[in-house]
Amino acid sequence: EKGGYEHFMLKEIFEQPKSIHDTMRGRLLVDEGVIKMAGIWDHLERFKNANRIIIIACGTSWHAGLIGEYLIEEYARIPVEVEYASEFRYRNPIITDKDVVIAISQSGETADTMAALKLAKEKGAFIYGICNVVDSSIARITDAGSYTHAGPEIGVASTKAFTAQLTILTLIAFKLGKHNGNLGNAEFMSLIAELDAIPKRVEEVLSSTHEQIQQIAKDFISTTNFLYLGRGYNYPAALEGALKLKEISYIHAEGYPAAEMKHGPIALIDENMPIVIIAPKKGHYDKIVSNVQEIKARKGKIIAVVNKGDRQVSEMADYVIEIPETSECFSPIVASVPLQLLAYYIAVYRGANVDQPRNLAKSVTVE
Ligand code: M6R
Repeated sequence: EKGGYEHFMLKEIFEQPKSIHDTMRGRLLVDEGVIKMAGIWDHLERFKNANRIIIIACGTSWHAGLIGEYLIEEYARIPVEVEYASEFRYRNPIITDKDVVIAISQSGETADTMAALKLAKEKGAFIYGICNVVDSSIARITDAGSYTHAGPEIGVASTKAFTAQLTILTLIAFKLGKHNGNLGNAEFMSLIAELDAIPKRVEEVLSSTHEQIQQIAKDFISTTNFLYLGRGYNYPAALEGALKLKEISYIHAEGYPAAEMKHGPIALIDENMPIVIIAPKKGHYDKIVSNVQEIKARKGKIIAVVNKGDRQVSEMADYVIEIPETSECFSPIVASVPLQLLAYYIAVYRGANVDQPRNLAKSVTVE
């Protein structure tokens, strides 16, 4: 059932070209220039008239939500807030019937997310679900939703569900932007053509980085700390990269927006600190270059995720992982793949049980 892979996690990482494709199938109709999503279409007025969208989730799904904020605000120009479900439910938040609440959950059973949704519903908000498990509790309680078609995710560390969530959020942002006039037709057409090719880009990254990452991972088996940095859309991707490493390898890792480094974490940097930095061409590249210079000056070990043909960051980096160039909004999907592989191989080489990490459950049904 692991399809020849040693672990479900590796199988699921490699399934991503297909799971992203399956999530878009029937929804993204490039030739017709249409995104079909019944859940959005049937409630378009609710979305269009929303004062704001509040995204609630936990863990990896919360990271997807942060990227959703960037997507929806950039392309649909609707204000978005992203909250941990556990905080939202207990802090007496302001919710009105003009709010749209989107819950993101792979399992559809996360207790805090479910409770936060119930609260939002009581206050009259329109509640929307992005779940992977069909007919799960969250899918049932929501007014409408869009399933991620990632297929069953068995590994406790979420991988293919995350990239499927990003796919749905991208579709929602583009669809809303198209309908409310914030995303012009030409840009819409070029973005959806690019989105359609993302499964292929992910396939390329898997094959071009898989062996290299196994080699890189060997150098970090005894490391005790990691920093992950990114800016813009790749700041949440850095958080997600760090979460993957801590949950399965038990190495302490922190994700940060790269510019926040100088407000604290830079104090940690010395020759023993590996820093994974996501530095694609599109999206604050020059700023990232100066962050890398600051790390280099303090002798941090730099593992850089860059676009093919990159020079400036690559020249300073100790390890260079190349990903294909995409528009910034798609880069977290493509950049997450090598980070999943890196976490996976470091954990495997440390002898950890990657599919069933200690203390963790696949769905957290108690708060
Ligand atoms: O099923 P959900 O998406 O609601 O789960 C949320 C988190 O528990 C989950 O993403 C957790 O952080 C994963 N172990 C991450 O890999």
